[in-house]
Amino acid sequence: MRKDVVRHGRLSGERSGAMMKYLSSMPADRYIADADILVDIAHVLMLSEQKIIDRAIAQQLMSALLEMHDEGIPDEVFDDRFEDVHAGIESLLVEACGADCGGRLHIGRSRNDEVATCIRIRLREDILHQMGGLLRLREVLAGIAAQHTETAMPGFTHLQHAQPTTPAHHMLAYEQAFSRDFDRLRDAYVRVNLCPLGAAAFASTGYPIDRKFTADLLGFDGLMTNTMDAAATRDFALEVLADCTISMTNISRLCEELVLWSSSFVRFVHLDDAFCSTSSIMPQKKNPDVAEIMRAKTGSVLGSLAAAMTIVKGLPMSYNRDLQELTPHLWRGMGDAKESVDLLTTMLASATFDTERMAEEAGKGFSTATDLADALVRAYDIPFRTAHSIVGRAVQKGSLTVAALDAAAEEVGAGFSLRGKGLTQAQVDKALSVAGSLSLRKAPGGPAPVATRKALAGRKKQLDADSALLDAWCAKVAKAEKRLIGAARRLVS
Ligand code: ARG
Repeated sequence: MRKDVVRHGRLSGERSGAMMKYLSSMPADRYIADADILVDIAHVLMLSEQKIIDRAIAQQLMSALLEMHDEGIPDEVFDDRFEDVHAGIESLLVEACGADCGGRLHIGRSRNDEVATCIRIRLREDILHQMGGLLRLREVLAGIAAQHTETAMPGFTHLQHAQPTTPAHHMLAYEQAFSRDFDRLRDAYVRVNLCPLGAAAFASTGYPIDRKFTADLLGFDGLMTNTMDAAATRDFALEVLADCTISMTNISRLCEELVLWSSSFVRFVHLDDAFCSTSSIMPQKKNPDVAEIMRAKTGSVLGSLAAAMTIVKGLPMSYNRDLQELTPHLWRGMGDAKESVDLLTTMLASATFDTERMAEEAGKGFSTATDLADALVRAYDIPFRTAHSIVGRAVQKGSLTVAALDAAAEEVGAGFSLRGKGLTQAQVDKALSVAGSLSLRKAPGGPAPVATRKALAGRKKQLDADSALLDAWCAKVAKAEKRLIGAARRLVS
């Protein structure tokens, strides 16, 4: 049986399967295994470059590493008897290259800096994926907005009909929210993409290592300078989980609206059947399950953040094994957020909007009463509060005729007659028109069609800029990996 290379010197006695399983990080380590090979390759190149190991040793190690890179990591690496993937890979290398050669891989490093580097490499990939997902989601929202700048729908506060708006305005509101989610991940990426390698256990190493060399090879933008911090911190993971949690709250609010809007008493949206399920007893049912599960995932992602925060909060410097328990929460939270964004995008792209139903509801519940109060202010130079009271009282009585408004003016003690001031029913009706209300709201960011068209043009520019940044970052990472593997192949050829 292949022994765990890390353990057998200092410790004796077999550990039970149950204990090994309890201590193992293997299930989550599958997620960083490919990154670990890249880290090993960069490390060997550096050791050779710095003449810390002989070229012949480096070549032998590199051949074995390239084989794992090219052919895939053998399943034995993930065997339960190894504490983690790092021990598994090193054990297999020792077997493949012999103890004299394989035993030199771990010179000048520790699993502490190794795992931190692997997590950052994997996480940056996830962040880039998620930034791409958010971009596509924003594009779909902008596309829906572009089709509906003129479509009226009710806007709500307190879930009561409030003022008319348009689906364009509504979708652009979410686009802005997801744009901030994109920005938060962009900001986090800058702190994630720094290299802890060379920190070793925490106090670096006495070998003449070149930290910048490995950081560059691995596509990092710089170093995690202080080696104790480099090995000990997981605040980058907390930050990304917090960003995912915030993003999920935005996703959840949109899902809540999709659930509401697809309900038979609202009928603003029809979700594609693929995103719905039916009932085992009620044959007529079409339930928006995907939106519901997505709304619930917000709680799960927050749970991952809460777990991760709690795991680190009491830890002294520097590495503590507790940190291992945090990593699965990172992948779980990140994974839920990634899947949610991708599914939400297809759910929205395949949804259809019932513009007739929206228009039907847009003027309900006296939703243009504010416009009438505004019209009275503009026409007669009366205080807004007086106009608000008159219209409010008329709504209470259930009628917005000139007669009703005048009766209301008297009841609230306005001290003037609107008919006396020359108010006509035509003026009232004009003020109450939904299309009129919308066209007046052309302040920047408002729902007037001219304002949303302008906003859309601005958002398209922002989407292009964000997309260009993302492409550049993805290209930099891909280029670094290509260069790294190229250098590895040159060493062995
Ligand atoms: N599996 C460990 C983790 O995920 C790797 C580092 C182990 N370090 C140690 N000193 N035991 O954190």
